[in-house]
Amino acid sequence: MVDETKPRTIVHRRGNLYTHMAAEHAVLDELLGKAAAGSDIGGEAYQAFRERLLRHIRIEERILFAMAEQRRGAALPMAARLRLDHGALAALLMLPPADHALRAIRAVLDAHNPLEEAEGGVYEQCERLGASEINELLARIAATPRVPVSSWVDSPKVFGAARRALARAGHDPALLDQPDRRCG
Ligand SMILES: [Fe+2]
Ligand SMILES: [Fe+2]
Repeated sequence: MVDETKPRTIVHRRGNLYTHMAAEHAVLDELLGKAAAGSDIGGEAYQAFRERLLRHIRIEERILFAMAEQRRGAALPMAARLRLDHGALAALLMLPPADHALRAIRAVLDAHNPLEEAEGGVYEQCERLGASEINELLARIAATPRVPVSSWVDSPKVFGAARRALARAGHDPALLDQPDRRCG
C-alpha cells in the first residue's frame, strides 16, 4: 500500500536505449496491423514482421538481458517470464498468417510489451544497468544482423507446438481455437 504521508519520488530512466526499443515495438505493431489488415497479399508484411520480431527478441536476450545479468550478478527478475513469452512468439511465428495466429501473437505482445516499457520495467532497468556503456550497447543493437526466418508451416505438429508454448508462458492456448474471428 502506498504511504500517502511520504512524497513519491519518480525517477525517470528513459534515454536512448528505452526510446529505441519502444520505437521498435511501435514498428512491430504497425507491421502486425498490416499483416492482419487483409491486404497483405503474399504475406509480405507478415514476413517482415516475423524477421523483425525475431531480431528484436535476439537483441533483448543476447544483448540487454545478458548485460543486465552480468551487471547484477543474477538475471533480471522478469527475464524468465519474458523469455517464455519470446518462446511462445517464436512458436506462433511458425504458423501461417491466419486470423487466429495473428490474434494470438497480438495477445501475447499486448501482455508482454508493457512489462518491458513500464515505469520501472525491464527497459528502464537495462538503461540504468548499462548506463556506463550505453553507446556500445546501442552500437551492438544496430549491428545485430537480420535473423533469417524459414517459411511458415501449416501442420498440426507446428500448431500443437504453438499451443504448448502459449500454455507454458501462461497464455490461453484457446487463443488459437477460434479461426473464424478476425484479428483486431
Ligand atoms: Fe521482449
Ligand atoms: Fe520488446
